[in-house]
Amino acid sequence: MTTETRQPTAPLDSGFRRNDVAAPLDSRVRGNDVASARNDDMSGGNDVASARNDVASSGNGESPVAGDAILSVRGLETQFFTDEGVVRAVDGVDFDVLPGTTMGIVGESGCGKSITAKSILQIVEAPGRITNGEINYNPSGDAGSATDLLSLGANSDAMRSIRGGEISMIFQEPMTSFSGLHTFGNQIDETLRLHTNLSKQERFDLGVDWLARVGIPNPTQRMHEYPFRFSGGQLQRAMIAMAMCTNPRVLIADEPTTALDVTTQAQILDLLQRMQEENDMAILFITHDLGVISEIADDVTVMYLGKVVETGPVFSFFDEPKHPYSKALLTSIPSMFTSSRERLPSISGSIPHPQNRPMGCAFHPRCQSFMAGTCDVGEPELQSVNEEQEVSCFLYEGQ
Ligand SMILES: Nc1ncnc2c1ncn2[C@@H]1O[C@H](COP(=O)(O)OP(=O)(O)OP(=O)(O)O)[C@@H](O)[C@H]1O
Ligand code: SF4
Ligand SMILES: [Mg+2]
Repeated sequence: MTTETRQPTAPLDSGFRRNDVAAPLDSRVRGNDVASARNDDMSGGNDVASARNDVASSGNGESPVAGDAILSVRGLETQFFTDEGVVRAVDGVDFDVLPGTTMGIVGESGCGKSITAKSILQIVEAPGRITNGEINYNPSGDAGSATDLLSLGANSDAMRSIRGGEISMIFQEPMTSFSGLHTFGNQIDETLRLHTNLSKQERFDLGVDWLARVGIPNPTQRMHEYPFRFSGGQLQRAMIAMAMCTNPRVLIADEPTTALDVTTQAQILDLLQRMQEENDMAILFITHDLGVISEIADDVTVMYLGKVVETGPVFSFFDEPKHPYSKALLTSIPSMFTSSRERLPSISGSIPHPQNRPMGCAFHPRCQSFMAGTCDVGEPELQSVNEEQEVSCFLYEGQ
């Protein structure tokens, strides 16, 4: 696999060279590497990476990939092996992200959005483990040149070079994503040192530039401050700066604007969209906020209890949602025509814990279109219902 040179978008373009032997993005990842190494020990080293390396005939991790997706997730399964039993957090997830586009991932709390994202970077914490699937990464776009990231292994040099550099992530919990022992400047410097060949001064200037771009006042001074001096919203913006500063090809943004006021949220979304246009960056955007999805996403994947229930273009999702869960999600958000005193419909019942997965279609206890004897017996498969949308629901079986 080749690691291409890319240019950062900030003013310090000259001299930027991606470092081929880059290491993890931050201490969080180092901790997770240890966690995943521990998982290997616990499981006798039988994780997907080593299993696939054993059977791979070429041994170089190359595998076919659908279309010209830069990221193609297939059959991804991630489970937590707890004392109380196995939690199937991600249970066979498939989706594609095309270069220069945004895939929105939506679904209620606990449906597996963050664990899907962490699985892509192989930073799932113990006792979690990826048990199946492929994550095909194809930065060149050439047919047949994709790399299955899971075949690289979480601690390999190749994966360390991709993680935090070519594929970076804005984490959902900014508070826990920085080290309290180092200044913000030290932490962004570490990331840039690992993923670029910039000089120390250039790294500092780029850090200042990125803090300014995400709207943090006095950026030069803030570079010297510890994360506890940042407010929650400032920390979230600082993390966005950290994720963007390496000019990633794929940005995974897990609820990136949740802690921000609407004005800052709009500025950040604008910044992401500009970065995308400038660099053809692909974005995997996880959010509860369907308003944000309508603004930023090209495609949408709806998850329910660890599975994809619907995927397709964003306009089809809003204009003609197919899955009863998608329809219910959409009717539970206010529209311009909702009067201020009108009570919004909510989805009946609550999302079950993955350990208590209902028989048949997992949504059946809450579904208005439930068909006894069908929906509580078999499990619907994700299938195309037209040229653009895929849905897993018995209502569309045989169409
Ligand atoms: N360390 C863990 N041990 C056991 N189960 C876990 C662990 N971490 C996550 N899970 C379970 O995995 C499932 C998916 O979690 P995940 O964090 O991906 O949800 P989410 O869709 O991101 O939710 P939210 O919208 O609240 O962020 C949940 O049922 C959660 O309880
Ligand atoms: S398969 Fe049945 S229960 Fe599930 S969403 Fe479709 S109609 Fe509802
Ligand atoms: Mg989450």
